[in-house]
Amino acid sequence: MKVAIAGATGYSGLELIRLLHQHPQVKIHSLHRMQQGDAPLSELYPHLAHIYTDLFQPFDPEAIMAEADLLFFATPSGVTSQHAAPFIEADFPVIDLSGDFRLPKAVYEAWYHKPAAEPEHLEKAHYGLAENGGGSGATFISNPGCYATAALLALKPLAESQYSVNETVIIDAKSGLSGAGKNPTATSHFSRMNGNMQLYKPDAHQHIPEIEQQLQKWRRGFPAIQFQTSLIPVTRGIFATLYIKMGLDFSFKTFYSYYQQHYQQAPFVRVQPEGTLPELKQVIGSNFCDIGLVYNERTGWLTIVSVIDNLVKGAAGQAIQNMNRYFHFDEQAGLDFVPLYP
Ligand SMILES: NC(=O)c1ccc[n+]([C@@H]2O[C@H](COP(=O)([O-])OP(=O)(O)OC[C@H]3O[C@@H](n4cnc5c(N)ncnc54)[C@H](OP(=O)(O)O)[C@@H]3O)[C@@H](O)[C@H]2O)c1
Repeated sequence: MKVAIAGATGYSGLELIRLLHQHPQVKIHSLHRMQQGDAPLSELYPHLAHIYTDLFQPFDPEAIMAEADLLFFATPSGVTSQHAAPFIEADFPVIDLSGDFRLPKAVYEAWYHKPAAEPEHLEKAHYGLAENGGGSGATFISNPGCYATAALLALKPLAESQYSVNETVIIDAKSGLSGAGKNPTATSHFSRMNGNMQLYKPDAHQHIPEIEQQLQKWRRGFPAIQFQTSLIPVTRGIFATLYIKMGLDFSFKTFYSYYQQHYQQAPFVRVQPEGTLPELKQVIGSNFCDIGLVYNERTGWLTIVSVIDNLVKGAAGQAIQNMNRYFHFDEQAGLDFVPLYP
C-alpha cells in the first residue's frame, strides 16, 4: 500500500516517516511540505541521509489520490481544514493529526481561535481513539491529540463503568518540548526550559473540549474536567496524573481487576502491576500507553498515572494503528517494537 504525508518536515511527519519505513505493508510514496523550500529532506534532516532523499512532490490532491492509497496530514491546526476538501468529497482515506476535525465548528472556534472547517466536512470525520474503535468508522480519521490520548485512555474504564463520579476529575499533565513542534519559541528556548518547568495555557488548553466531548459520549453527565498542562525539560513524553474522588466506600481491589480486564485485549495499553506506577522512559519511542493506579484509603482519592510518547502513541504511532485497523492489517503491524531505554 502507498501513502502520502503532508507536513512531512515537521516532528509528527518525521515520526510517521520513521515508523512507516519499517511497516511491512506500506511504502511511503510521496512527501509534501506545503510551504516554500526546496532543500532535499536529507539535507534538512541528516538522520534520513541514504534512506530518504527525494520524495518531495507538490501538493496536488488529484495526483495524490491517483497514486497513493492514503494521505496523512501532519500539519498545524487551521491548515488541514484548508486542504482536505477534495479528499473528503472523493471519500479518499485521510488520517489527520491536527485538531481541525475533532470538534464541532463553534467549539473549535472558541478554543482554537481560528475558523473551523465546513460543518458538512466536519460531519464526515470520525474521532479515532484507537482503543475506542478508531479506524473502524469513516474514511476520514481525526487522530486524537496527545494529551487527550493519555487522559482518555486513563479515564475510559472509569467512564464506561457503573462507578459514580460526582466530583470534577483533576488532570495535571506534563509534556516534553517536542509536543510544541519543530519551531522554537521564547518559552521553549533551551536556556529557559533546561532545568525548568512551567504551566502554560491555564484552564485554556484546546484539548479540554476534546476530552470532555469523548467523556460525554461514554457517560452523559460526566463532570467537567479540571485540566492543566505543563512543559518539562525532556524531548518526548507526556506524563498525566489524574485525581478522582472515589470516596471511602470503595473497593480498590475490585476496581483494579476490572480496570486490568478492560485493557486485556488492547495490545498497546499496559496496566501496571498493582503497587507500581509507570515512568516516562518505559514508553519513549514506543506506541505503548502505560497506566498505573493508587488509592488513598485515608482520603478516598484515586490517582491514575498515564504515560505516552507524544510523537508515537500521541501522534504518528496511533495514526498508524488507526491505519492498520482501517485497512484490516494486524493492529500491531509496524508498531511492535521495544521502547528506547535508557
Ligand atoms: N508534536 C506532537 O507531539 C503532536 C502530537 C499530536 C498531534 N500533533 C499535531 O500534529 C500536527 C503537526 O505537529 P508537529 O508538532 O509535527 O508540528 P511541526 O513540527 O511544527 O510541523 C508542522 C508541519 O506543517 C507544516 N506547516 C507549518 N505551517 C504551515 C502552514 N501555514 N501551511 C502549510 N504547512 C505548514 C510545516 O512545514 P515547513 O517545514 O515547511 O514549515 C511542517 O511540515 C499539529 O496539528 C499538531 O497539533 C502534534
